[in-house]
Amino acid sequence: MATQVATRARTFKTSVDIPADARGKVVRVLNQHLADSFDLLSQVKQAHWNVKGSDFWQLHKLFDEIAARAAEWVDEFAERVTALGGYATGTARMAAASSRLPEFPTDISDSMEYVRAVADRLGAFTNSAREAIEETDELGDADTADLFTEISRCADKYLYFLEAHLQG
Ligand SMILES: [Fe+2]
Repeated sequence: MATQVATRARTFKTSVDIPADARGKVVRVLNQHLADSFDLLSQVKQAHWNVKGSDFWQLHKLFDEIAARAAEWVDEFAERVTALGGYATGTARMAAASSRLPEFPTDISDSMEYVRAVADRLGAFTNSAREAIEETDELGDADTADLFTEISRCADKYLYFLEAHLQG
């Protein structure tokens, strides 16, 4: 754990003119969302592979589409960290150690239970990304705030696709 903390604090020279202290705080927020999104990616893939039922095919495809978006978010978060002179903590083990998402349930079988499990995690992810918009804006980084805005807007859309299965 001490190694992880030291690793996260590594910094590199950059000409980006956001003050070092604020940049460090933004990097911490980004690395947290890097961990969350990497975990989300693996969990949505888990749903993609294991979902069963008469609606298998459409959910298999929908979960894969969400996973593809999550893979993009992982990359965007990591590259914003490095653009700010930070060190991206982006391995699967680093993500597992830091993610705030609950582990994916292994005892479900009904397809709607899969939709609920993915929706719960995507919902937690998008709401925390929304919180990060204001957090990073207040730290003086409108570009990172914009990244969180774009990502949470996209995640909200997929959350709606999932939740539409559970309503009606
Ligand atoms: Fe696949």
